[in-house]
Amino acid sequence: MTTPRSHTAVAFVGARQPLEAIRVPTAAPEGDEILIRSQFTASTPLDLHRADGGLLMQPGAIFGSTTAGVVEATGPATSGRLRAGDRVFGWAFQKPQYRAHQEYVTAPEWMFGKIPENISPEEAATVPENLITIFNTMATDLGLPTPWPKPEDYVPDRADDPILVWGAASSVGQSALQLLRWYGYRYVLATASPSHHQYLKGLGASACFDYRNPDVAVKVLAAASETQGKAGVRGEAAVPFIIDCIGSRDGSMRPILEKKIAQLGSVVAVMLPVILTHASAEQAPEYEMDAPKVARELLGPEADSSGVTVKGVRTFFIYDNSPFFKEKLPSEILPALLEQGVVKPQRFRIVEGETILEREENALREMREGV
Ligand SMILES: NC(=O)c1ccc[n+]([C@@H]2O[C@H](COP(=O)([O-])OP(=O)(O)OC[C@H]3O[C@@H](n4cnc5c(N)ncnc54)[C@H](OP(=O)(O)O)[C@@H]3O)[C@@H](O)[C@H]2O)c1
Repeated sequence: MTTPRSHTAVAFVGARQPLEAIRVPTAAPEGDEILIRSQFTASTPLDLHRADGGLLMQPGAIFGSTTAGVVEATGPATSGRLRAGDRVFGWAFQKPQYRAHQEYVTAPEWMFGKIPENISPEEAATVPENLITIFNTMATDLGLPTPWPKPEDYVPDRADDPILVWGAASSVGQSALQLLRWYGYRYVLATASPSHHQYLKGLGASACFDYRNPDVAVKVLAAASETQGKAGVRGEAAVPFIIDCIGSRDGSMRPILEKKIAQLGSVVAVMLPVILTHASAEQAPEYEMDAPKVARELLGPEADSSGVTVKGVRTFFIYDNSPFFKEKLPSEILPALLEQGVVKPQRFRIVEGETILEREENALREMREGV
């Protein structure tokens, strides 16, 4: 196939401005790059943070990071692992031509893996961003090992420590439950709306709590202490590891910190950005990228003596932090976990629209409305 000369992409104009469909030159694959005809992408809250909050965006920037599609051509220095006609999926954002919300993506081969036979491209598109985020959170922020290949008899050192996944019904939360279970963590506590509890237990939660219940902290702490008693673990903190999948100052960080679910010795990994004010049709959002700063404001004078470590998760840096993840995660680990059913595709909704621009606008509107 010859590389098309140009294609349509969706670009940012300014915060809370309508998006724009632009024509961009299609980059022929050079060196280790592949050219992909995109079939599906995933719209995520980051799109909303960008569209409505202008988060880390310049005018003209193209949206999106996750692409599922078909390889059309390969560059001269590719390894041969991926060939024209292969169905691939991956997560790439570092250059405009890698971004996902456009008809063709040209990006390095290592950033993509083959879609397993038993998985459709739309299912595949639901996986990379969340699963890569959880690998990064475990390894970089919580210091929990992620051995690959995982030895048959692998039991992690902290297998019996309670881990709280706050916001487990979120896409990131569902990936967290599945990956923690697979690595052998036995006591993964989760917060979510009650209608999801049964489903989340099926993904790996050992107990679920309604985050809207005013007693949620008391209940989580009681479950954690009971768990520690059963397992004979005597750590300093009732819940040593907390993944805040929501990153909302008032909706997640406040209960975790003020109600002392996080205690001396706890590490809290917060998905950035911290949301101070949610985007809505009427209101511009407000964000903060410094999670420890938000924690200090919430804890006040107690902050320094609390012994709680708060970290902001920044998955965009995962490949700078880990050459191993760069080599293995997109090409080998993600396809294998998906093929083996360790990680299920997320439940999804196909956003309809006549054009790529209309679909993008519809997806943003649905996220603003909290669909
Ligand atoms: N920094 C990074 O590296 C990184 C990477 C990925 C994502 N993120 C960020 O992480 C956040 C979540 O992303 P996502 O795609 O997983 O979101 P999502 O799938 O859109 O999450 C939606 C779910 O969040 C739950 N939720 C909302 N408010 C909650 C609260 N106060 N407490 C508990 N659960 C709550 C709701 O659960 P119920 O239905 O149970 O009510 C809802 O179903 C976004 O802000 C995203 O930008 C950051």
